[in-house]
Amino acid sequence: METMRLFVAVNLPSEEKRRIAESCNTLTELPFPIRWVREETLHLTLKFLGDTPGHHRRDLDAALSRAAGRTEPFEMVIRGVGAFPDLRRPRVVWMGVDQAPALRCLREDVESGLAELGFEREERGFHPHLTLGRAKRHARPGDFRDLAGVARGVSYSATVRVASVDLMESRLSPSGARYTVLTRHELGEKGRG
Ligand code: 2AM
Repeated sequence: METMRLFVAVNLPSEEKRRIAESCNTLTELPFPIRWVREETLHLTLKFLGDTPGHHRRDLDAALSRAAGRTEPFEMVIRGVGAFPDLRRPRVVWMGVDQAPALRCLREDVESGLAELGFEREERGFHPHLTLGRAKRHARPGDFRDLAGVARGVSYSATVRVASVDLMESRLSPSGARYTVLTRHELGEKGRG
């Protein structure tokens, strides 16, 4: 059966992605063993679905459209470079997104809408973030001695309006993942049509 690697995301305007990438230049130009993501792929993941049979698309879109309709467009604050599990031994280096009631509600509505379709609920807490890069496999903790200091020096901060959630497809390739928006679901009144 044909499957697609899917996830649900909030995407950002291209100008904002450019600003984030430029603000992070001081970090990404240094020789840390980190594979930085391409600017155009910066996004906030709300839910990772993984390999999903293509025929589930219609049900997914219906569930996402309902979830999107329940939250009015809102603003989210993006700031602060951090890492999972931490900046001294990073696996994923990210730009933070402030927790906000509207974002939590949207994420919860997406979770529960998709749980009704049989997608497993995420057990881990929600730490909204935009992945900037991932540590290379051969990296050692000592390689990141200066990372926290450099990360603190990234002064980017922005308030961005969120007006839609997108069903995304991820295609893996040797040069990194390529993402495509499959369906955009407008938030709130407009989304409810
Ligand atoms: P990340 O940015 O924190 O790495 C597309 O691959 C998106 O889905 C990425 O943003 C990635 O999150 C997320 N993702 C990939 N694999 C995942 C998994 N097994 N569990 C949760 N999220 C995952």
